[in-house]
Amino acid sequence: MQTSSPVSVAPMMDWTDRHCRYFLRLLSPSALLYTEMVTAAAVVHGDADRLLRHSDEEHPVALQLGGSDPDWMAQATAMAAKYAYDEININVGCPSDRVQSGQFGACLMARPGLVADCYKAMQAETDAPVTVKSRIGIDDQDSEAFLRAFVEPVVAAGCRKFVIHARIAILEGLSPKENRTVPPLNYERVYALKRDFPELEIVVNGGLTDLESVNAALEHVDGVMIGRQAYHQPYFLAELEAHFDSTWSAPTRARIVERMLPYVEQELARGTTLNSMSRHMLGLFAGRPGARAWRRYISEHAHRPGAGSEVLINALNAMPPAARPDTMHAPGKNDRIQHGT
Ligand SMILES: Cc1cc2nc3c(=O)[nH]c(=O)nc-3n(C[C@H](O)[C@H](O)[C@H](O)COP(=O)(O)O)c2cc1C
Repeated sequence: MQTSSPVSVAPMMDWTDRHCRYFLRLLSPSALLYTEMVTAAAVVHGDADRLLRHSDEEHPVALQLGGSDPDWMAQATAMAAKYAYDEININVGCPSDRVQSGQFGACLMARPGLVADCYKAMQAETDAPVTVKSRIGIDDQDSEAFLRAFVEPVVAAGCRKFVIHARIAILEGLSPKENRTVPPLNYERVYALKRDFPELEIVVNGGLTDLESVNAALEHVDGVMIGRQAYHQPYFLAELEAHFDSTWSAPTRARIVERMLPYVEQELARGTTLNSMSRHMLGLFAGRPGARAWRRYISEHAHRPGAGSEVLINALNAMPPAARPDTMHAPGKNDRIQHGT
């Protein structure tokens, strides 16, 4: 396991589930992968094993918890301990109404003392670092001073790592989706925070979609978190990995599919549907010839009853011959894609 990568993949509800993370890990051996947000209440009162279990292959993996009750956050952290997460992250960035009615997410930026209490209670329950993901501000609280006033008490409580989505959250009037596009990005605010607290690990997030923007950010902060681009164009992660680790050569996209097959078969045998895994793979060929055929074949076939791993092989074969990444043949019992390198 490598943990020194400056790259992480953002927590994304309904997207970065364990199947998605397994797939992304094939594209990036070292990026830190965040789970979807799981509420502390759901862990404490719900099916904790379903919410927390993951594959060993996913490491390094961080659990993101949502909540604001220090006792519940601590209990959820203690319950997560046996799942060996590499980091536990507190969600202080989500602006959705549902989250706000639970008094957590981005609205907690106005209550740094409570975030500090959560941090302390959680860190007492785990050896893994407890970290915070926030915005740069909320509503009209859009200043360096506000961000600093948020961070200071949490740092005083012992927190050493902050992931900052470089835009404010508007708590009323914008949907979560609009809150990821409408407030402008302000990387400089995050860079200023790093200058103010050079001893902290600061990770910047928001709108990083190419190597150039990633490299520019890394001149100022310690790490970059990639969200939508990692989901819609997952091969970007392989390009980043190859950039930061010159000893690693990126497998072809077809090889990634091949390496996914044993996992898919194992999960199918456990009753997982193909669609719940393959839906995360739709963007694998994004921007390449044949991408549409790949997506279309999977979208049309993966949800059918009894759909198995052959759908993925057939999807590769459905790509126009000129676009086909490798030579493939029809799947048989022990058959695989022929050339995956
Ligand atoms: C579908 C989706 C779900 C998200 N769910 C979460 C979440 O559970 N917790 C969180 O902190 N942020 C969540 N986010 C925000 C991302 O973590 C990230 O901060 C945001 O997308 C900006 O990064 P990007 O421009 O690289 O996508 C979500 C974003 C998307 C697109």
